[in-house]
Amino acid sequence: MSRLVIVSNRVSVPSGKGIVKAGGLAVALKEALEARGGLWFGWSGEVADGPLPLPHKVSRGGITYVTTDLSRQDFEEFYNGFSNSTLWPLFHYRLGLVEVSRRSYQGYLRVNAAFATTLAPMIEPDDTIWVHDYHLLPLGEELRKRGIANRMGFFLHTPFPVPEIMLALPGHHRLMQALCSYDLVGFQTEDDVRAFLDYLSGESDGEVGLGGHFGAFGRQSVAAAYPIGIDAAAFAAAAVTAATRSESRRLSESLRGRKLVIGADRLDYSKGLLERFEAIERLLEQHPKLKAKFEFLQVAAPSREEVARYRALKRQLESAAGRINGRFAEFDWQPIRYLNRSLDRATLAGFYRQASVGLVTPLRDGMNLVAKEYVAAQDPENPGVLVLSRFAGAARELITAVIVNPYDLDEVADGLARALAMPLDERRRRWRAMMDVVERNTVEVWRDTFLADLAEAAEVEEEVELLSGEGAAYCPLPAVVQPVSATRLRHTSPR
Ligand code: G6P
Repeated sequence: MSRLVIVSNRVSVPSGKGIVKAGGLAVALKEALEARGGLWFGWSGEVADGPLPLPHKVSRGGITYVTTDLSRQDFEEFYNGFSNSTLWPLFHYRLGLVEVSRRSYQGYLRVNAAFATTLAPMIEPDDTIWVHDYHLLPLGEELRKRGIANRMGFFLHTPFPVPEIMLALPGHHRLMQALCSYDLVGFQTEDDVRAFLDYLSGESDGEVGLGGHFGAFGRQSVAAAYPIGIDAAAFAAAAVTAATRSESRRLSESLRGRKLVIGADRLDYSKGLLERFEAIERLLEQHPKLKAKFEFLQVAAPSREEVARYRALKRQLESAAGRINGRFAEFDWQPIRYLNRSLDRATLAGFYRQASVGLVTPLRDGMNLVAKEYVAAQDPENPGVLVLSRFAGAARELITAVIVNPYDLDEVADGLARALAMPLDERRRRWRAMMDVVERNTVEVWRDTFLADLAEAAEVEEEVELLSGEGAAYCPLPAVVQPVSATRLRHTSPR
């Protein structure tokens, strides 16, 4: 098997801490790298104020981690700027928050080119290269320009917006062309695949065939959905263990028999936190009897604090939590416990297990693994209820959650009231169906399916004949319960 090269903006350089703490994605990628021998390349997380030092190199267990610092200017223009103030809001359908700056676009292209220059000499002829996320859309093309002909796949962890949104992005053509340099372009959901192929057929010279095959900008490639999962067994085990630890006990004692509703997110406007607080307020307005019957714990991990919009959201959340607590609290109860810090995943696993309701209401989310972790952490005998935004990729799979529109505060409040009152047999039925999906579609399945399809996509790329005429319309793939394998679909007839 060929060596694997992973490229992502963030790199999980081992720190000697446990598996659960490292996070499922990092663990899954690390396992694949260990099995095949490999290289993980990306940003070190450091900003160098002087001249850039040489890349940092660490080797552990057959994996070489190479990370590079960013200059202050690159950090501003590439990371805070184009990645997180342009692409991030755009990909999350927040046109009003998109900042357009030619400088940051140039910085984005510059960092991608510099990453390619550093990485290219480390690539061996038979390596398989797997690039991750919106920070690195042009990296594949930059590597190709430097003579790298290896099989190369890309996976987008965020949503991919419909063409109408994408067209607001200056340079969209150039970036979409760059995406076509990969042999396989993976997305979280079928909706994302469809949006991408719609862009190619509507806004470029692209032709779209069956099974996600496309030809555009002079290249042929494949797009398919690979809904990311978690290591369900490990997370469930961590939840059982954590439930006996002192943090879980303290939380349980502090609740004094009241039900727990939990939310845990990065502090990001895509997560719908402000709307979530307002939905709690609406719940208390409309169901006064629920007063003092539950507490809502929101863990909001600080994120991207150099970006003004994130700082503004932090202030808004503080103010909303204060206002709602001030309005409804009793001297011995308050509706919202708001933590503006991160908790480690093991602690969270124990908290999820205790929570009667997992409240996951992003306004838009690629997948949302908290939803899957909440399901995995439940006690099968007495599971809680997941209240899930229809705009999270996870809602395509976890169809027996209480699905809500996060913009509709009344609907979220009703969903919460329903979840808090749900009888045990209904909770079990809904949970079992979700757990089946979470257990079947693990992060390992996601990784292996993507890599198997990438191996095949690169091989057959030359042979693919694109259909034309009527048959060329993109054929929607089946509802995502199993990851959809482009390989399998290539040999089946359209449905
Ligand atoms: C999202 C993105 C990831 C990113 C993470 C944390 O999940 O898809 O690529 O690493 O957020 O954001 P940060 O800006 O801290 O890397």
